[in-house]
Amino acid sequence: MDYQPLIPLSELPDNSHRTVSSGGRSIALFNYEGVVTALAHSCLHRGGDLGDGRVQRLDDGDLYVVCPWHGWQYHLRTGKAPGAYQDRQAVYGVRIEEGMICVSEEPVVPAFRALHDEDPLTDLRNLEYRVTPSSLNVLGISATNMNRDLPRPSTSESALQAALDFAASEFGASVRMIRIRDLDFRHCEGYYSRHEQACTWPCSISEMDSGDGMNEIYRAMVLWADAVILATPIRWGNASSLYYKMAERLNTVQNQITLNDRVLIRNKVASFIVTGGQDNVQGVVGQLNSFFTDLGFTFPPFNFVGWSRGWIAEDTEHNYQRFARSRYVKRSIRELVTNTLKLVMQVKQMDATYLQTPKPKISEAGTLSAPESDS
Ligand code: FES
Repeated sequence: MDYQPLIPLSELPDNSHRTVSSGGRSIALFNYEGVVTALAHSCLHRGGDLGDGRVQRLDDGDLYVVCPWHGWQYHLRTGKAPGAYQDRQAVYGVRIEEGMICVSEEPVVPAFRALHDEDPLTDLRNLEYRVTPSSLNVLGISATNMNRDLPRPSTSESALQAALDFAASEFGASVRMIRIRDLDFRHCEGYYSRHEQACTWPCSISEMDSGDGMNEIYRAMVLWADAVILATPIRWGNASSLYYKMAERLNTVQNQITLNDRVLIRNKVASFIVTGGQDNVQGVVGQLNSFFTDLGFTFPPFNFVGWSRGWIAEDTEHNYQRFARSRYVKRSIRELVTNTLKLVMQVKQMDATYLQTPKPKISEAGTLSAPESDS
């Protein structure tokens, strides 16, 4: 097999690695423990550049490169993933000739991407929707936080429960409440900031950890729900921190539009319940509307119920009682649900096979050398 010179050995000092491109191929070169090795640079998972990864010694005493995107690991010499994993990165032969690192034209060990027997995310990966033309599935998401052992009355959550009860009794809807506080899930770890292709569907965190609690929300919101009613308290003028923790993990849904022009949320309606001892109902709803429309949701007219008693209402011990007695709250919850579900019935008739998405697309971003002139 022929070997091609890539770079002088002097350009790959001891304990260093980098990716080198030449003749239409890119090779990750490593110089560790006095040996130069070469692997295909593109990670078998989603294509992260291994030359940009971290080299670390694992428990077996050997050196592995850790992919910078989601942490897959490959042995520097054999290309093999650690432990029982069968995946193996392609390995190229290396010779040092007249001070040049020369690499074989073809891999001496081919890449192998193992089929993982059971994919716990198959339904998400294949978008196995559970809505039907006649389904009326209403998902309530409660974003309030509280001590599980010392539950207290919550205006937002009790309004949400009333909304779900009304949807079931008056419309025959199937209803389900998810309390975000009950889910154990990781923060968004910002893979999109590393590389746009590193934010994946299903979420790369879900791929790393199929037990991550956000999978329950992905399944319920994307696959099951016809309508989502989100209820949040107002905390310092914003939705709750739990809401934002969830919203950041929904990047994976929104980014599919940016990256692949693929809309996962179709023919679905969202409305909101926003309650606070003081104020900023409109500001919070503005944020929620902005995010949920970016996910692909449709809104009914008058798509929120708000409750606040104003700037000086510091008598919080009276807030829940006033809320529970309020005729306005009882009526407006019924009307919110009615508006929401009537729109669901109309939206389900719409042909949403292709939706226009006037959003920034990665294909329009240009390159560092040639930015889009009209961007
Ligand atoms: S692209 Fe390498 S671990 Fe995901």
